[in-house]
Amino acid sequence: MSTTSDDRSVIDWATEFDHTNPAYNENAHAIWSDLRQRCPVAHTDRFGGTWLPVRHADVSAIAHDTENYTSQGVVVSPHKPEAARPWGGAPPITSDPPVHAEARRLLLPPFAPKVIEGWEDTTRTLCRDLMANLPVVDGVVDAAAHYSQHIPVKVIAAMLGVPESDGDLFRQFIYRILEHPGEEFDLAPEDTLEYYLDQRIAEHEAEPRDDLISYLLNVEMNGQKLSREHARGSVVLLLLAGIDTTWSAIGSALWHLATHPDDRRRLVAEPELMPIAIEELLRAYAPVTMARIAAKDHELGGCPVKEGDWVLLPFPAANRDPEVFDQAEEVVIDRARNRHAAFGLGIHRCLGSNLARLELRVALEEWLAAVPEFSLAPGGTVRWSTGQIRGPRALPLAIGS
Ligand code: HEM
Repeated sequence: MSTTSDDRSVIDWATEFDHTNPAYNENAHAIWSDLRQRCPVAHTDRFGGTWLPVRHADVSAIAHDTENYTSQGVVVSPHKPEAARPWGGAPPITSDPPVHAEARRLLLPPFAPKVIEGWEDTTRTLCRDLMANLPVVDGVVDAAAHYSQHIPVKVIAAMLGVPESDGDLFRQFIYRILEHPGEEFDLAPEDTLEYYLDQRIAEHEAEPRDDLISYLLNVEMNGQKLSREHARGSVVLLLLAGIDTTWSAIGSALWHLATHPDDRRRLVAEPELMPIAIEELLRAYAPVTMARIAAKDHELGGCPVKEGDWVLLPFPAANRDPEVFDQAEEVVIDRARNRHAAFGLGIHRCLGSNLARLELRVALEEWLAAVPEFSLAPGGTVRWSTGQIRGPRALPLAIGS
């Protein structure tokens, strides 16, 4: 399959794919299905050489293989991370064994199920506020811009202890780091995420609070506090991992319900179906593709991977593999057996999955309670993100029709 996009030429996704091309996320399901049949490990010379396996078996094997792959780089860009630090830049996602387990253990308590349950009321209140203030023009609202994107930003800002009003700033960081990796931006030092977080960390050092930044500044590992670099790296991770991902999952779920009225009406009529439906929406529209760097020369599905090559881990493609899921390309809203890989596989499995599920459930419950009938706005354009996190960035919905 080749696809033409507005800004770049026709692409053969098997040999010259570019996951940052807008046509990739827009056509992702068809591209993966095509590759699965004719070239299950695709390659591109871009970014210094990158592989794209699309079968569940390959994605799972790589995610579990910490000998042949390192997590020191998880976002593909033309610039590889500099010489390995044990923790990487954003622990634990950039850490390898054996230090990964320690960096991960530190973060488990604030993301435990009981602690996350405590955030339900805050999440529900902010979803209700957003619904009450939706800027509807002629019956149309952009649900990505005015609803889904605000929910994770506000929740993680409250958890970390940074101002909610800095949401626009966080989205700029995400735009640069996740949506346009490796691109040069003309930035003053004070425009960087590192500078921003150093300011917030200094405020917390001067005046400790009951929040995640103070937790990371005080928690001990092997009897010692974390280095400033480690603590800041984990804050970077929580800020980036928590926002774009959940924003995308909520937006894709709304996109599905806007385009599948039977599923939407069934969810409204049978709200008890919500937890099962959420797992299916996460399977079918999993937003997160991570990456690894090959640590050694080796073979992957018969392909010669060289040390230093990038390898994308498209968990969303694994979730649509017919070898593993019946009716893999369809949303079966009451799918009973659903061991999906949306939150990853292996040692880096998502630490924020309880929070992500809470935000997704509450966001959909509150949307459906206020707006049970909606569809894509006629003539409106849905715009999908670019890069490794897939979700709608513009989602014009006609509501109440
Ligand atoms: C629907 C929303 C989300 C999805 C689909 C998702 C998906 C993932 C995936 C696939 C990984 C594995 C990465 C890898 O193998 O390299 C991961 C890791 C991680 N996620 Fe999430 N995530 C979501 C939301 C969140 C939230 C809300 C947080 C916290 C605020 C979070 C925190 C993390 C952390 C800390 C890791 C690293 C774990 C480790 O390296 O041990 N995620 N996530």
